[in-house]
Amino acid sequence: MNTLSEFSLAGRHLSSNVVEKLNHVRADYQLNRFKFIPGSEMAAIITDLGAQPEDVESLKTVSDSLFGDPTLPFRQSRNGRFVIDYSEKTITRTCFQPFTLSAGEDFVRHDSEKVRYFRGIQDDLQANTAFQALLIFQALLIEGMKIQPRRALDHESSRWVSTVFNLRTITQADLVGEPAMEGVHTDGVEHTMTTFLNSTNMSDDSARSEVHFMEQKTGIPWTETDQSLVAGYAQHKHVLDTLLIVDTERKHSVSSVHQVDQAKRATRDMLIFFTRRPTLPGHISHPYDSLEPHQEIPLTIRYPEAL
Ligand SMILES: [Fe+2]
Repeated sequence: MNTLSEFSLAGRHLSSNVVEKLNHVRADYQLNRFKFIPGSEMAAIITDLGAQPEDVESLKTVSDSLFGDPTLPFRQSRNGRFVIDYSEKTITRTCFQPFTLSAGEDFVRHDSEKVRYFRGIQDDLQANTAFQALLIFQALLIEGMKIQPRRALDHESSRWVSTVFNLRTITQADLVGEPAMEGVHTDGVEHTMTTFLNSTNMSDDSARSEVHFMEQKTGIPWTETDQSLVAGYAQHKHVLDTLLIVDTERKHSVSSVHQVDQAKRATRDMLIFFTRRPTLPGHISHPYDSLEPHQEIPLTIRYPEAL
């Protein structure tokens, strides 16, 4: 089994401490094709990668500035695209691009194939060192990992695209918040990472994630899944609780968000990192897959030497 130090971090300025932690996570991720990392463990890792404690704290409130989602009434959202360049060892914010997912990528919902325009992530998130460390964490973890490739992607590319969503799911008297209304699905990418930021008034039985073997039928509601096809369970409850999934090898579903106090709304704030190689012509996202940098809100992170 490959380890990070063998092919990724040799000669780089990461402490043996963080390399050991990353290798531990990676070994489990490679073995099971998904991995849940408790927030306390993630906090230690991203601190080693440069996250400032006050920025971890800021992540808890960054979702207060989200906007209404283009297609889902129970959700507020922003997104941004980042190019991981493994040759240059940089992560760069790309120019704005709309977003789409299709049934061909195991995503069946009323807005499948619709081209959606999300508000962009601003500096309050992208300049946050904890957020940047999460980007670096995923980039380091997936580098060189052998997975089932997704079709119509440029598998020779040394650049990967991570589309990051900052999402708030809301449940109130007239709305039931569904973190994954589409039921069993994949995200149309190669690696998905989901990180919990905060919640308010959310009951303990809310937003349980199931990770499914690929034999589980796409589009089945989370209430109807076949337990013999469940590869694992996870529930995000604490800041930085993180779930990694090889998106070409495991499907997933998430249960609804419920209130504790029925008189108040419940909220659940997350970061979702959808990461894959660039698309080839013919892929539904190819017209929206520019690797050009963002002009108005530029960001380039150099790693890990700069940390
Ligand atoms: Fe998903």
